[in-house]
Amino acid sequence: MIVRKQEPSEYRNTINWLNNKSIQRNFGFTREIILEEHVDWLQKRANIEVLSILYCNLHVGNIVLDFNERHESVFLQIYIGDSSCRGKGIGGVAMNIVLKYIFEEKQKNRLHLKVFEDNVPAIALYEKLGFIKEGIERESHKMDGVFRNQLLYSMLSREWKGES
Ligand SMILES: CC(C)(COP(=O)(O)OP(=O)(O)OC[C@H]1O[C@@H](n2cnc3c(N)ncnc32)[C@H](O)[C@@H]1OP(=O)(O)O)[C@@H](O)C(=O)NCCC(=O)NCCS
Repeated sequence: MIVRKQEPSEYRNTINWLNNKSIQRNFGFTREIILEEHVDWLQKRANIEVLSILYCNLHVGNIVLDFNERHESVFLQIYIGDSSCRGKGIGGVAMNIVLKYIFEEKQKNRLHLKVFEDNVPAIALYEKLGFIKEGIERESHKMDGVFRNQLLYSMLSREWKGES
């Protein structure tokens, strides 16, 4: 498995996945995006890294990292784009690669994320990796007329290093 910076030839996969209804629901996206919009968004955000997850040399998913240099923290989003590739251990291995990248190579202190409380596979993945549940944002997102709760999870460098 390889996780590395996304190449422009892979943007098309990314757009297709971001416009997939189930991924939109898991991230709370409410509208379709087009390639030009995505490229423009990326160019304007120097603090964002989009990483491609390659499995058997195939691009199967992405990890998006939003760096906050001032606070030495990173906000993370992960998705395995092709649903047939889920539940095979890919997300878990990719997350471990990224945890090492963030805490060892980039020397960051805190990694955090949000997840909708009905996203059972994602919550199981984060808890298995040792993320700590910080709390709940009650009814923080409205979709199709329904308010949804989001859970907040984080991991600190010293926890990943087993120092706490
Ligand atoms: C969440 C996601 C990234 C997990 O990746 P994955 O490759 O499917 O996960 P893995 O196969 O590596 O599984 C890792 C752990 O997650 C949990 N898990 C995975 N699929 C699960 C499922 N369907 N139900 C319950 N737990 C599940 C298990 O704890 C599993 O560990 P185990 O196999 O040792 O029990 C993937 O399901 C996905 O892309 N979902 C759609 C997008 C999304 O919801 N992203 C997260 C938004 S916060």
